Amino acid sequence: LSIGAVVVAAGKGKRMGAEVNKLFLEINNKPVLAYTLEAFESSQYVDSIIIAANENEMDYIKKDIIDRYKINKIKKSISLVAGGEIRQQSIIKGLSELKGACDIIVTHDGARPLVTSQIIDLSVEEAEKYGAAACAVPLKDTIKVVDEEGFVLSTPERATLYAIQTPQTFKFDILFSAHREAVKNEFIGTDDTVLVERLGFKIKLFSGSYENIKVTTPEDIYIAEAILNNRKRG
Ligand code: CTP
Ligand code: MG
Repeated sequence: LSIGAVVVAAGKGKRMGAEVNKLFLEINNKPVLAYTLEAFESSQYVDSIIIAANENEMDYIKKDIIDRYKINKIKKSISLVAGGEIRQQSIIKGLSELKGACDIIVTHDGARPLVTSQIIDLSVEEAEKYGAAACAVPLKDTIKVVDEEGFVLSTPERATLYAIQTPQTFKFDILFSAHREAVKNEFIGTDDTVLVERLGFKIKLFSGSYENIKVTTPEDIYIAEAILNNRKRG
C-alpha cells in the first residue's frame, strides 16, 4: 500500500496575531512547521508528503525549513502545492496532487507540531481497518451552546464529547469522493471527517494526545515549549 500525507500550511494565522505565518514561529529555536514535518518523516508508513502552502511562502519552506532542518534526509517524496482560501480547499489541492498515487491518505494541520510518528502510524493502521479514522481526546471543559447575544441555550453532556484532532486518515477514494460531494453541495466543514460523515461512512476515533495541541493563539507557543521541555526531560 502506498501512503500519502497532506500537511496543510496555507493559513494566515490571524488568531496568533504575529507578523508572519504562525507556522514559522519558533519553539525552542525551531519553526513549528519543522517539528510537524519531522514527525511525518519519522513515520514508518508515510511514503510521500504534500505541503499545501501560500505561494509567497514556498521558497521559505523549501530553504529555511526543509533544507535547513534536513527534513528530506531519508528521501521521502516531499513536495509543495499552492493552498486555497480555506483549509478545505488546501486539502483538495493536496489530494489532487496525490490522486492515483496513494491508497491511504493522512491529513494533518501544519499547526500541530507535537504530533508523534506513533500517532501518525496508528492512524494509518486504523484507516486500513476501518476506512476512516481520526485521533481525538475527551473534552475536559464543559461545553455550552450559546445564542448570538451570549446567552446559554443548552449544555451537551460532557461524557459524550470529544475534541477531534489531526491526523485524520482515510482510504484515498473515500476522502476524495467526500471532498467532491462537499464542493458539489457547497458544504464547508472545519475538518475532513465531517465531509466523510456526510457520505454515511463511520469514522473510527482512536486516542490522540492532550499534547497534540493546535498552535492557534499566542499562549500556545509557550504551552508547546513546556511540553517539548518535558519530553526532553523524559
Ligand atoms: N490552513 C490552510 N489553508 C487555509 C487555512 C488554513 O492550509 N486556507 C491550515 C493552517 O495553515 C493550519 C491548519 O490549516 O495549519 C489549521 O488551521 P488554523 O489553525 O485555523 O490556522 P490559520 O487559518 O492559519 O489560523 P487563523 O484561523 O487564526 O487565521
Ligand atoms: Mg483558520
